[in-house]
Amino acid sequence: MRKKTKVTTALVIVILVLIVWLAMRQSGAQQHEPAAEHGEALAKKYCASCHLYPEPQLLDKKTWREGALPNMAMRLGIRMPGQDPFKDMDTTDARLVHALNVYPEQPLIPGEGGGEGFRSRWRS
Ligand code: HEC
Repeated sequence: MRKKTKVTTALVIVILVLIVWLAMRQSGAQQHEPAAEHGEALAKKYCASCHLYPEPQLLDKKTWREGALPNMAMRLGIRMPGQDPFKDMDTTDARLVHALNVYPEQPLIPGEGGGEGFRSRWRS
């Protein structure tokens, strides 16, 4: 191999490595977006669409996890498996609440699918 070819090859390799490294750095930056900040932005957008934005300090972790969040999730169309918002209501109430779409059948937050993202976030 001639010296000039070697230098060119080395240069091409260096440039390729640099491109790959830059691409990885970029996608890494997107993946490591802080979950809490993301959650806060979502809460400010969606939770505050019905009432004032509730500060996390409002309730303790257990009450959030077992009381408020599962309830609010159902209002956003996200249900845990087996969760039934109508189970403690008499038929008239259940019919009214259903007709008013208080607990939508489909998730209102785009991209939440069956609510997996939401569930995993409130569990962590
Ligand atoms: C579709 C409307 C709606 C959305 C969206 C909503 N809420 Fe609510 N929220 C209500 C209503 C209505 C009440 C009062 C009735 C009740 O407590 O069930 C309430 C009550 C609360 C309470 C008082 C405690 C309690 O359990 O009653 C908290 C805390 C709360 N919401 C937090 C949130 C959070 C956090 C979100 C976002 C994940 C959220 N809410 C989204 C309608 C909503």
